[in-house]
Amino acid sequence: MTETPVTGDVTESAGGPGAVSRPAPVPSASPASSPASPASAGDDVIRTRGLTKRFRGGQLAVDGLDLTVPRGSVFGFLGPNGSGKTTTIRMLMGLIAPTAGMATVLGESMPQSVATVLPRVGALIEGPALYGFLSGRDNLVRFDAADPTADPRTRRQRVETALERVGLSAAAGKKARAYSLGMKQRLGLASALLQPRELLVLDEPTNGLDPQGMREIRALVREVAAEGTTVFLSSHLLDEIEQVCTHAAVMSRGRLVVQGTVAELAARAQGRLVVRTPDVAQAAEVLAAHQVGALVPGEGRVDGELGASGDEALPKLCAALVEAGVRVHGFGLERGTLEDAFVALTGEGFDVAG
Ligand SMILES: Nc1ncnc2c1ncn2[C@@H]1O[C@H](COP(=O)(O)OP(=O)(O)O)[C@@H](O)[C@H]1O
Ligand SMILES: [Mg+2]
Repeated sequence: MTETPVTGDVTESAGGPGAVSRPAPVPSASPASSPASPASAGDDVIRTRGLTKRFRGGQLAVDGLDLTVPRGSVFGFLGPNGSGKTTTIRMLMGLIAPTAGMATVLGESMPQSVATVLPRVGALIEGPALYGFLSGRDNLVRFDAADPTADPRTRRQRVETALERVGLSAAAGKKARAYSLGMKQRLGLASALLQPRELLVLDEPTNGLDPQGMREIRALVREVAAEGTTVFLSSHLLDEIEQVCTHAAVMSRGRLVVQGTVAELAARAQGRLVVRTPDVAQAAEVLAAHQVGALVPGEGRVDGELGASGDEALPKLCAALVEAGVRVHGFGLERGTLEDAFVALTGEGFDVAG
């Protein structure tokens, strides 16, 4: 009896009448704030220029992508479902050919250099191809055996270490077909971690995991990054990117909206002024009189947008509130989030449900 992998590869086929790509604003936020290093291509682990994929049938899945992933970064590739993340990653890994443009991974052209580049990269793309009739452990043994650089004498130990890192030791003897989506995801991650790599590419690594599992994966990503591996991970979850990444690129409808350090991106979204007080109505009145806009009174708090003078208005506002007899229990700026930035840049909501 033959068994096919639990998750097959996606075939390149004609897409339905998908989303029409429309021009998105592309602000000039180059990754200027990456550590002051010479901007030579050697420091960039991934570089694409004009990378484009049009599927047969006309679907423009990736549209002129210029991506720069600095060495040593934890790079978040963020975008709603269908925005072109997996297609980009498949091009980067040489699984599909671009329609136009170029990509280098670890300094070498893809897909031409697939054979020399892939052994230096650990990858988890859209769920691993697992054999359901084999245990999790034996699936890993197979993956390891398929790697010509892996010493068979140390195979068992590599497999056990990888299982332990992803928290699968206890379930390692179970057949993979009995694994939950989250367990399959962990097993795929374990296969990417069998060897130390220069680059780890993870496509939605927390898909199917519960919050605890997500936390564990985030911790693992940080650990791998601390060991010096550059991590490129895609996600449709903004807070995930904010929590774990140093850099991010935001995709929308196949196009790059912005890329840079996470701090830089979040800073583009203006923070909101938050006043905590039992005198909500009175506070709102004072703030309105001082050009604070978009006021939202809430339970024991009122927040709003600072005017053009921004942070500089803060001391004056605080004084005005106190002078007016408002009991100020808390006063400060709530930092903007990546989501605010995304909405501000695209004029669209971030469709998490997708
Ligand atoms: N093999 C394919 N054939 C046709 N269209 C595809 C194929 N794979 C993906 N697409 C389309 O390309 C777009 C981007 O998909 P994808 O890269 O999977 O996005 P993401 O990973 O961000 O969710 C979607 O509209 C999707 O339907
Ligand atoms: Mg995807």
